[in-house]
Amino acid sequence: MNLLCLGIETSCDETSASVVRDGKEILSNIVSSQSIHSIYGGVVPELASRAHLPLIVPITKTALEVAKTDYKDLNLVAATNAPGLIGALLVGLSFAKALAMSLGIPFVAVNHLEGHIFSVLLEYPAIEFPFISLIISGGHTELILVKDRCVYELLGTTLDDACGESFDKVAKMMGLPYPGGSFIEKLAAKGSRTIKFPLPHIERYDFSFSGLKTAVLYYLRDSKNPKLEDIACSFQEVVFDFLLSKIQSVVDEMGIRRITISGGVAVNNRLRERIKTFTEKNEIDYYFPRAEFCTDNAAMIAAAGNERYKRFGSSLLTVPAQARAQI
Ligand code: KG4
Ligand code: ZN
Repeated sequence: MNLLCLGIETSCDETSASVVRDGKEILSNIVSSQSIHSIYGGVVPELASRAHLPLIVPITKTALEVAKTDYKDLNLVAATNAPGLIGALLVGLSFAKALAMSLGIPFVAVNHLEGHIFSVLLEYPAIEFPFISLIISGGHTELILVKDRCVYELLGTTLDDACGESFDKVAKMMGLPYPGGSFIEKLAAKGSRTIKFPLPHIERYDFSFSGLKTAVLYYLRDSKNPKLEDIACSFQEVVFDFLLSKIQSVVDEMGIRRITISGGVAVNNRLRERIKTFTEKNEIDYYFPRAEFCTDNAAMIAAAGNERYKRFGSSLLTVPAQARAQI
């Protein structure tokens, strides 16, 4: 088979287009990150959707050029339809539907979280099912049982802030730029774990980060001469303790010793180090995609779309954009 799929991703502040052959060969993956939000310390939804508009066509053209292909060679268009910022989703989704219709080829709607799962499958196609997928990004913190390709069970999610969001908010409190995750990581590498921030205690496989964020806020407010490096290190280590405690519970209780970690926070090298030590000690297989596939990208959407198309056929052109949706 030679199925050439164009993937489109605009669920948040990245405009991305990618051409993937047969769900596995990435011919191009173009990602443009919006910088407009940095002055606000977070993504402003209306600005995000407006910023996608002038970019969606040129980014798609670049993706086709880099892939050395043309619109007429495409067999399938896949786009993220949920979850995400509604206006932002609508730009990519409407464009993808219109393109598929004008080319007379099928269109497939993809859940963004499924995309993050496929970011790992793209790199490790031989991974054995079932496995546990931890998705940690600026908008999501999800623990998912992946029974097979396109067969999922949501085990847990965040009750408040997402994992990456807590990094971004703590970074903002410390006067660091947005998005703050990588700045926290750099600062933390120069600090020590000297402050005892509370480890969240949340039932079952759910998560919560807002109490921890507030603890950092109070610490900053109350200390005369706060050492930012130590705050970053102490905060980051508790977040990772928390993630590891959830991985430990899920692996022990479900008896599945394979875990994938994706989403923007999975770029963090200290997390990779801690997961490596933990999984080796506990005889668990772990899989991280390379950094460019951890953050939002259209290659993962094309890969997921390709699989959905093979299994379930095309989506209706009436499929809506949805801000909230479970996998
Ligand atoms: O997956 P992503 O690009 O977008 C969403 O779907 O949200 O993730 C972006 C998130 C941001 O919160 C950012 O601060 C976080 O990933 N992030 C990091 C690191 N690099 C990006 N968090 C911790 N350490 C990092 N090195
Ligand atoms: Zn994402």
